[in-house]
Amino acid sequence: MDQNTEYAEIFNQVSVLYELSLSTGNSLDVQENCDRFLKKLMSRKRVTYVSVWIKDEYMYLRDEDTASLVYANPEYYITQRKIAKTHPLFSDIPSKGYLVRDAGDCALNPPLLKAGDLKKGTCIVYPLNCFGILELHWLNELKDPVNVANQLDEVISKFAFSLEASLLHKRALWEAEEKNKAYEARMNAESMNRAKNEFLATMSHELRTPLNSIIGFSDALLEGLSGELNNKQIRYIGNISKSGKHLLSIINDILDLSKIEADEMTLNCVQLSVMAMLEDIAMTLKPISSKKNVSVTISCANDTFLEADPDKLKQILLNLIGNAVKFSHEGGTVDVSSYEDDGMVRVLINDNGIGISAADQQEIFKPFKQLDSSLDRRYGGTGLGLYLVKKLTEIHGGAVSVKSEVGKGSTFTLSLPVNPA
Ligand SMILES: Nc1ncnc2c1ncn2[C@@H]1O[C@H](COP(=O)(O)OP(=O)(O)OP(=O)(O)O)[C@@H](O)[C@H]1O
Ligand SMILES: [Mg+2]
Repeated sequence: MDQNTEYAEIFNQVSVLYELSLSTGNSLDVQENCDRFLKKLMSRKRVTYVSVWIKDEYMYLRDEDTASLVYANPEYYITQRKIAKTHPLFSDIPSKGYLVRDAGDCALNPPLLKAGDLKKGTCIVYPLNCFGILELHWLNELKDPVNVANQLDEVISKFAFSLEASLLHKRALWEAEEKNKAYEARMNAESMNRAKNEFLATMSHELRTPLNSIIGFSDALLEGLSGELNNKQIRYIGNISKSGKHLLSIINDILDLSKIEADEMTLNCVQLSVMAMLEDIAMTLKPISSKKNVSVTISCANDTFLEADPDKLKQILLNLIGNAVKFSHEGGTVDVSSYEDDGMVRVLINDNGIGISAADQQEIFKPFKQLDSSLDRRYGGTGLGLYLVKKLTEIHGGAVSVKSEVGKGSTFTLSLPVNPA
């Protein structure tokens, strides 16, 4: 080659590279960015096939274990768009520079491509920073592939940076979209929750009115206000009254639940004697405990007082002591003890009943959670009791916890501040 031809050749190379470098980095769209630069590269450098593989299209945001083919020309040759990051395609690629590969080892080979003639020619693979690779394939074998690869090295590294910017842009858009979706989902959940609480509150209210009249009239009949009843009538009306009261207690629990969830539960706190409260509850539970032959003992100093809402505290203790009786065996024992400790009143409710496994101890304070959910379950109730206990205790500034062993029994500890803030 004479000197003039050599100069002309160099001039030609430089102008091609200049033109290529102008076509990098003009767009933030991945496809457009690839299209503009790689199409030009193919026509100026007579490349037959190009492909761009990205290790993680979302720039490691999703931590995918596959790499994606984000660009290929000609497009119709592609049969597979995702491959494992561990694929040999990614091995041996230097972090800088390039790799001249035997066309037979080129990634565009079957099974990725259907065409049969791809084992011919030269293949040069460039790393795209650390996020992917660019593969160039000439069907006509290059005479001096190293020279061509060196010429293109700089302009391809420029392309890598502009492609990285496009991918980061895509990742930012995706991230914003995900955040938006999460925000919408939260808003939907919140408004559904509000609607549910309103529904529960209205329904419970509407159900209470007729129920109170069922209970009121059946009790009046039982008291003989409308004349003498025979034994069968007494039994039937007694059942109506008992079932009505049970239904009312469930409805009241649901009403409490909706009030708590809507942050509408208010407390009317007064000074209370713990001993008097515990004795009152033991009396209330007497019919149930005697029927099961479960003995309930109370030990508490007479002068233990605390400030609390009497109805709510009764509800808390009725459920905890009621559970202890309910989940005790025939002839079991329930010990309730209370003492004051550093500004807190602690009430320990201990039973030697069926017990609760460690895993279930996390679950029982959730609403409607009952450990025996079989159709023929032995114990009644709705599973709202402990959820309400927890919430009502927390509203008082206290806490409730459980220690238990299956088959041996349980101890629930209620801690309430003597003077709530
Ligand atoms: N002392 C206890 N011993 C064994 N299991 C218990 C005890 N207390 C509660 N549990 C378990 O925790 C579950 C939830 O208790 P919770 O008081 O919330 O519901 P419930 O008593 O079944 O029904 P409800 O209180 O609404 O009438 C019970 O169904 C039971 O499986
Ligand atoms: Mg209960």
